[in-house]
Amino acid sequence: MALAVATSIAGAREAMGAARRGGLSSGLVPTMGALHEGHRKLIQVAREECDWLAVSIFVNPTQFGPEEDFDTYPRDLDSDLAMCRQSGVDLVFQPVRAEIYPATHRTFVEVETVTSHLCGRFRPGHFRGVATIVLKLLNILGPDRAYFGEKDAQQTVVVRQLVKDLNLPVVVRQVPTVRESDGLAISSRNRHLGPQERRAAAVLFRVLKEIRTLVLQGGRDAARVRRSGLRLLSRETRVQVEYLELVDPETMQPVSEVRGPVRAAAAIRVGGVRLIDNLLCEAADR
Ligand code: PAF
Repeated sequence: MALAVATSIAGAREAMGAARRGGLSSGLVPTMGALHEGHRKLIQVAREECDWLAVSIFVNPTQFGPEEDFDTYPRDLDSDLAMCRQSGVDLVFQPVRAEIYPATHRTFVEVETVTSHLCGRFRPGHFRGVATIVLKLLNILGPDRAYFGEKDAQQTVVVRQLVKDLNLPVVVRQVPTVRESDGLAISSRNRHLGPQERRAAAVLFRVLKEIRTLVLQGGRDAARVRRSGLRLLSRETRVQVEYLELVDPETMQPVSEVRGPVRAAAAIRVGGVRLIDNLLCEAADR
């Protein structure tokens, strides 16, 4: 099937309705565009699991703080459409801001507790914006499954909570992070890194792997494991740490003792660029 592009809510609903009437199972990969290999993987997994697949492209203003990079967030529609076409996507939904957030828009969604640490703490309002746009996209399209990347693991937890609490009939799937050869998680923001910053950024995944090793070796004192990670990060002078935490993977709350699986999660700044990453650490003998 040829790639269709809808810029209106009515157009997107019409395309989805036709798929549903045809008895097809449907998937949605919500994105902010500037598609990269991480998105390609999301699309690939979704393509395998769904008969009909939509990708939404919308740089959502409500998830950016006033000092954040909404204006400079990369946008590259031609190459996004080319990737969607190559990957067998059926519909690209590229809504316009005025229809998603008309001047009369008053409703926002707040997901509590799972947003209180990590990015939720350092980006006030971010997950309110994410939860709101994801709910809107799910309401507009009504897919059977929606796909999110593990790099944004807290986002997936927020969306799962939203789906559970608001009884949405959609299955949330999380797809593993795609990495460069030195381990740096692929992200739309990587393209803003200069060569030296790009080299320095690789420390992020090295530290997460080191934390995983410490946990696998039986490290139970989260504060101690965390300190080792912070020490390693501090050796890279170009890097400023926003947070490095060991959290419960279900609740995203920091743990003091490692007793089961934990997620090591970090946000750093390299130059002006904010990068996040995380790694699930499961001790063998618990
Ligand atoms: O992960 C993203 O790109 C965004 O947060 C999302 C889920 C598309 C909502 O704008």
